[in-house]
Amino acid sequence: MMDRTSQEAEIIRLLRANGEGHVSGQTISRTLGISRTAVWKHIVSLRNAGYLIEGSPRKGYVLADRHPVPFNSVEITSALDTDLIGREIFFYESIDSTNTKAMELARSGAADGTVVVADGQYKGRGRLGRGWYSPPGVNLYTSIILRPAIPPERAQAMTLLSAVAVAETVGRFSPVRPHVKWPNDVLIASRKVAGILTEMSSETDRVNFMVVGIGVNLNMDPESSDETRRVAASIGKENGRDVERTNFACTLYSVFERWYKTSLKEGFKPVYEAWKGYFDGVGREVRIKGFTNTEGICLGIDGEGALLVRRPSGDIERIISGDVSFSTL
Ligand code: BTN
Repeated sequence: MMDRTSQEAEIIRLLRANGEGHVSGQTISRTLGISRTAVWKHIVSLRNAGYLIEGSPRKGYVLADRHPVPFNSVEITSALDTDLIGREIFFYESIDSTNTKAMELARSGAADGTVVVADGQYKGRGRLGRGWYSPPGVNLYTSIILRPAIPPERAQAMTLLSAVAVAETVGRFSPVRPHVKWPNDVLIASRKVAGILTEMSSETDRVNFMVVGIGVNLNMDPESSDETRRVAASIGKENGRDVERTNFACTLYSVFERWYKTSLKEGFKPVYEAWKGYFDGVGREVRIKGFTNTEGICLGIDGEGALLVRRPSGDIERIISGDVSFSTL
């Protein structure tokens, strides 16, 4: 039996497939295997969610043109082509942080691939204890719950996998090829368009679950906030054309799923290779602010995803966390 969101997504799909033609209540009821009363309740709930559904007692229902397209779990479910990531969606108009919510859901047993999405966040969290500017209506804020059968040392690899999935998705929506900055910022023309915050619960020898929180600046005006001025960019503003959020989210889930399945089957080698293809830091001067400060020449990453830096003394240091800045090219 489909859940409520899936049933409503199916109704929206049916109505869209019929364009300007009406779909009778009976057809919907038969297609979904639900009663006419249940159909009516879904129509009311969809109207409350902002869909303009016109009804005629003799002909049935038709979806009128709506602008703008709502961003909600029904839209995402109706456009999704994955079988794991996003099969269960928790959508919020406004929430403190999708990562906080996803950690809570994961602790109470949410399945591998469950996602949390919000229209806006009022306490968005970034790496290294920073905030993440999360105005409503413009960007993507989502957290993916994963239950990979890996030891905790491999968690960094999952972080790089997330960066690859986000960079590939950004690349499909931007004429300019994105780059990654270690470990997982995604940049267009040296300005950050996406950030990833990975959190996890683990035991000594295995990961219980991970939450990959992804924030992508899609349509916000980067000048709209002091916090983001100069350093941030948004894909839509770079392109001069808004990015449709549902389309971006579904593409991201689909690309993410492909990389996730690849890593479970073949290990992380293909992920590292792809990550390197988005990284332009090798051979450049780099400075890392972390527990200790390090400076040197960036040599790339090792087999566990750590950043390798040759210090002026010639020693090679392995960096596992910190804030990286490169001298400009
Ligand atoms: C960074 O500092 O670069 C990481 C930013 C991560 C932001 C995303 S938005 C969705 C999810 N929820 C949060 O509170 N943070 C992450």
